[in-house]
Amino acid sequence: MKTSGGSEAEKRAAGESAAEAVEDGMVVGLGTGSTAAHAIRAIGRKVDAGLDVRGVPTSFQSRELAKEVGVPLAGLDEVSAVDLAIDGADQFSGPHLVKGGGAAHAREKIVDSAANRLLVVADPSKAADRLDHPVPVEVLPDARTTADDDVRVLGGTPTLRTAERKDGPVVTDNGNLVLDCEFGEIANPAELAADLAAIPGAVEHGLFVGMADEVHVGREDGVEVERF
Ligand code: A5P
Repeated sequence: MKTSGGSEAEKRAAGESAAEAVEDGMVVGLGTGSTAAHAIRAIGRKVDAGLDVRGVPTSFQSRELAKEVGVPLAGLDEVSAVDLAIDGADQFSGPHLVKGGGAAHAREKIVDSAANRLLVVADPSKAADRLDHPVPVEVLPDARTTADDDVRVLGGTPTLRTAERKDGPVVTDNGNLVLDCEFGEIANPAELAADLAAIPGAVEHGLFVGMADEVHVGREDGVEVERF
């Protein structure tokens, strides 16, 4: 699993804090990444203790972990509503997020958008006054070069994400490629989100504008919860 800046204690504190919001009978979106994994494990322990929930995974990784810890699963097309989703972020500024460090942002955006509430779990290294993290854009393989050109026209510098322990590019759970697009400080996330969404062959980008309802920031000595 990809890991990031914060400590395991910080990530665990954030994940377990958000998992406390899971109640009997809920349908819960299960996010991707090392911080959301702590929430999934905590939900698994609640299931062991008798909680009745169903989880909607956002990736191969979250599905495998949920199965391992005994969280019953459902597809998004099998549920009438998602009560809440718990997901990580590569960076947050208020309710705005950059996601996709694990290349799962397309499914994450579908599930997180469907949820009545999105609880983001993060360590303090993810906080920013203004978003400036490179924005991942998942593209159809045929659109690799044209989307690259389109991102440059928008003022970005795209880099095809390459795999570790495999020659060549990262291939997403959906069979696509990822361009990590450096824009520097993002003055207007909503405008950039609309521009990226309009690129032909772009399946989804990692800007989640105004989507967080809560951010649970784990620290060594506790959890700070920001509500929007
Ligand atoms: C997955 O594609 C991402 O959106 C993750 O949710 C994000 O990268 C956060 O992961 P960590 O909790 O491992 O930093």
